[in-house]
Amino acid sequence: MLRRGLLFLSNSRSARKVLTGTPVTRSMSRRFVPGERVDDVLEAARAANALGLKVTGNYLGEAVHSEAAARVAANTYVTLLQRIAAEGLDANASLKFTQMGQDISDQVLDDNLGRVLAAAKEGEIFLRFDMESSDYTGRTLEAFEKLWADGWRNIGVVLQSYLKRTPGDVRRMIELGARVRICKGAYAEPPDVAWQDPAKIRAAYIESMRWLMSDGVYPGIATHDDRIIEAARDFASREGISRSRFEFQMLYGVRRDLQRELVADGYNVRVYVPFGEKWYPYLMRRLAERPENVLFMAGSMVKESPLGFLWPDPPRRNPS
Ligand code: FDA
Repeated sequence: MLRRGLLFLSNSRSARKVLTGTPVTRSMSRRFVPGERVDDVLEAARAANALGLKVTGNYLGEAVHSEAAARVAANTYVTLLQRIAAEGLDANASLKFTQMGQDISDQVLDDNLGRVLAAAKEGEIFLRFDMESSDYTGRTLEAFEKLWADGWRNIGVVLQSYLKRTPGDVRRMIELGARVRICKGAYAEPPDVAWQDPAKIRAAYIESMRWLMSDGVYPGIATHDDRIIEAARDFASREGISRSRFEFQMLYGVRRDLQRELVADGYNVRVYVPFGEKWYPYLMRRLAERPENVLFMAGSMVKESPLGFLWPDPPRRNPS
């Protein structure tokens, strides 16, 4: 019930107008989105690096339909990459093709992406292309392969274990030698293209993950699911795969306890840090994923402030 309400609020324009205007919602959002500006994500990155966490910065936004907005997104990434390089942070960037203007025209996409890729190359920073809904999977992978064929190597993709096509895509990325982030998948997809059963999605995830860990190039294991993380740890130790050959990835503000445990155990952990003006729908989706966070954040506003980073995560429900 609460989950549906939160998802409704994430899409409601009037709710957005009221809630984004209140300092309370803004303050709550800091748990998952450090701020709107490049300075905010850099500050979060410095703090994460100090804890031994790597970072990927993501300027929030997708399905951009105006050339001006796509240009702003590309400029923001250029600034982000230049600042990461100038400060020598242990950070890279994740972006979406539709944010660069994929839905507007190939020309707009190429111009914007070209500038971002040049900045990444200049700063020797890795760029990850997030995966969007299944309407875009084929186009995203084709665009990625085109860049690969053009000689770009500081780039990687994301594959989603809920998609039935993913084993074939994993095979292809292993053949190319491209870096893959494997995740479950975040969009509502129909049964003809995606598995619906959480147990099947997890099993498919573990299968692709093992394959990438043994034959792929430095895979990113993006999940907060304890059972998958345990499976990765077991597989690595059974197969003698060094901890330096893969990384775990989690969202900023989610399972901070686990992030630090893994770092303490010697694993690479990267935190996905979103920032930007589009924080409201992102926040509502994170709350909907785990509605207990609403109560948690309301309480933490009173208790958290200066020592917020010490506040433990709330008790978990069983991974489903
Ligand atoms: P699951 O949702 O089952 O969560 C497992 C457990 O984690 C929960 O039981 C709970 O304990 C904890 N948890 C999860 N969410 C929480 C929250 N908000 N607050 C507190 N605890 C929480 N998707 C996509 O389609 N394209 C992409 O490019 C990406 N990129 C991406 C990058 C990174 C770094 C991550 C971590 C995730 C993505 N995703 C994504 C999202 C991904 O597909 C998936 O929707 C989420 O990670 C949730 O799936 P889990 O594997 O975490 O399992």
